Amino acid sequence: MEVVNTITVMQEKCENLRLSGKRIAFVPTMGFFHEGHLELMRVGREISDIVVVSIFVNPTQFGPHEDFESYPRDMESDLAKAEGRNVDLVFAPSVNEMYPNGYQTKIMVEKVTKHLCGLSRPGHFDGVTTVVAKLFNIAKPHIAIFGEKDHQQLTVIRRMVKDLDMDIRIVGVPTFREPDGLAMSSRNSYLNADERASALSLNKSLDLSEDLCHQGEREVLKIRGAIEAFILRHPHTAVDYITICDPHTLEDLEILKKEALVALAVKVGKTRLIDNRVIKPA
Ligand code: PAF
Repeated sequence: MEVVNTITVMQEKCENLRLSGKRIAFVPTMGFFHEGHLELMRVGREISDIVVVSIFVNPTQFGPHEDFESYPRDMESDLAKAEGRNVDLVFAPSVNEMYPNGYQTKIMVEKVTKHLCGLSRPGHFDGVTTVVAKLFNIAKPHIAIFGEKDHQQLTVIRRMVKDLDMDIRIVGVPTFREPDGLAMSSRNSYLNADERASALSLNKSLDLSEDLCHQGEREVLKIRGAIEAFILRHPHTAVDYITICDPHTLEDLEILKKEALVALAVKVGKTRLIDNRVIKPA
């Protein structure tokens, strides 16, 4: 496995791989790998010749009062884990390499960024689309792989790729969970034991929404109310949003008629966690 820190070397290596007929799968990450990340790499290995992973905590997708500085980082352990998954190439640039003096360009996807996390994290998705577009230009992948835990991110990236005619297949991989159902996230490392117990309320509340839907409840307000009450019964929780929306447009629904996305962002202590599930009326 090779580790590259500069854009020009990375572009040259990826160009040569393409010229030699190799298909490149790319897994963009912010590091601090858990099984969810490793699953993305496993899928990449399965569907391509070359697996490229980037490790870059992207400052432009964090708000001024968010956790950019304290975001967990462990490059040595990440490289060992990537090597264990037979990754071919890791791109780990510095902030200055990605955003040198004079940098001034942004990519903005309009409508699908205006819901869910886009409301509570203004500018977040501009940071994500901009860095992902840059990383695509650097790693030159045929396929890029993202987790479905961040359903909105996946939706926004699919939109960007379609709208800008990027010749890249976007693959979504189902959320990887701890045995007790907690969605894997690098931010889980912030939780103390009590908070971790309360964090289980996210996945359990998604079970509840699915049960209510299967029992015939069609009113979004009622399902939403039940989820909120359930989560708030757990200590240290504060709801950022609970939204039941169209999985493609992310627009709010009032009545469940076909499949719907239940998406949540909940603060558990100081840690903001997200989770989601697509539910379908019978
Ligand atoms: O999902 C993430 O880890 C990040 O948002 C991404 C896609 C690597 C962009 O920084």
